[in-house]
Amino acid sequence: MTIHASRISRRRTAASAVLALAALVGGAAPTALAAPSTPVAPSAPAAPSAATAPDIPVANVKAHLTQFQSIASANGGNRAHGRPGYRASVDYLKAKLDAAGYTTTVQQFTTNGSVGYNLIADWPGGDADQVLMAGAHLDSVSSGPGINDNGSGSAAVLEAALAVSRAGYQPDKHLRFAWWGAEELGLVGSRYYVGNLSATERSKISGYLNFDMIGSPNPGYFVYDDDPVIEKTFKDYFAGIGVPTEIETEADGRSDHTSFKNAGIPVGGLFTGAGRTKTSAQAQKWGGTAGQAFDRCYHSSCDTTSNINDTALDRNSDALAHAVWALSSGGTTEPPTGDTYENTNDVAIPDNGGAVSSSLSITGRTGNAPSNLQVGVDIVHTWRGDLVVDLIAPDGSAYRLKNASGSDSADNVRETYTVDASSETANGTWQLRVQDTARYDTGYINSFKLTF
Ligand code: TRP
Ligand code: CA
Ligand code: ZN
Repeated sequence: MTIHASRISRRRTAASAVLALAALVGGAAPTALAAPSTPVAPSAPAAPSAATAPDIPVANVKAHLTQFQSIASANGGNRAHGRPGYRASVDYLKAKLDAAGYTTTVQQFTTNGSVGYNLIADWPGGDADQVLMAGAHLDSVSSGPGINDNGSGSAAVLEAALAVSRAGYQPDKHLRFAWWGAEELGLVGSRYYVGNLSATERSKISGYLNFDMIGSPNPGYFVYDDDPVIEKTFKDYFAGIGVPTEIETEADGRSDHTSFKNAGIPVGGLFTGAGRTKTSAQAQKWGGTAGQAFDRCYHSSCDTTSNINDTALDRNSDALAHAVWALSSGGTTEPPTGDTYENTNDVAIPDNGGAVSSSLSITGRTGNAPSNLQVGVDIVHTWRGDLVVDLIAPDGSAYRLKNASGSDSADNVRETYTVDASSETANGTWQLRVQDTARYDTGYINSFKLTF
């Protein structure tokens, strides 16, 4: 008990140091804050094209869904256009974005006899003539709280925007995030927004990414069949994490990207399925239940926080952030830092318990692993001194990355370790093994990455 109390006070000290630093650098040099927590391979060149999206913590995305659920519950069970739950949803997002340094605009329009709102958030900086947009509709239908449709897309777009702020990301392009009103009444808000842009403003939007239903409880992984560059960016991301995708050929007219597409703007997006039935072939590759809808609660009162598949929400949120980063940094391709494999599934670490692991199965390489294998570790934890971390090679050999230590007094393990793995076969299953060796503080493996 005494030990724990002293830990808390030391942690407070560390937190106030960060706050002091934040006050010192202000908004001027946010990269100084991002540096210690961002795992960057040491060999990566400092070119802007090296920009890599951070992993999006799915717990943060879910916390926003919990808020949307509370908003609906307090306002007659929905967040529909013209109802108080819609405006409360806008206010929730706006407060977060304002606090993170965004320039926000609430755009009003009238439809169906009531006032609707779009929320637009601009990240200061970047080339004003090249605007990358990402958006989601924020309204629900009136029959339910709309947590998958479309709290999921709304929360993931918010969390990507907040990640941009946390990272102090300075993209080449200008970033603009948007939440649309009255989508469920016929894409009304997004049509109003695009219709109100001048021809010049429209021509500056280099792409629009749409996220409508990305946490379906019996999920599929669908990528809109649209702009080839955007489509490839999403497909490559999912291929990199070993998740098969299918092309969504019926997205036209179904969500807000249509308003942009009709104005000649390149569009793309992600979708985990609505009322259609999952086939047995789809259940084989994605898991879940064949013969059942992707979302049995689509447009129903049961579209609550229970109507979410966390893995789908996590993967799609990470894919969203990846696309925002990749499509806003130059026109250049990935830097030649080697091939990266990543597992972003969260693994809970039991308090003072047995070891747990996250694994990566590597195939198609020849020979041994390199002498400078880069091991990206992202563990969210309230006291990293409790943790012992090892890299386990396919043959079971262990490489100690970090020991437990009472003096290792900080949160989280976000590091890139270099391991001489030249005596190990590259192909096979590699594991990140983590054990919590002391009571009270807990956490989870957020991501495990290997760069060969
Ligand atoms: N909100 C959309 C709708 O009600 C959901 C949807 C169905 C969708 N099919 C889609 C979204 C395809 C994107 C792509 O129509
Ligand atoms: Ca994650
Ligand atoms: Zn809908």
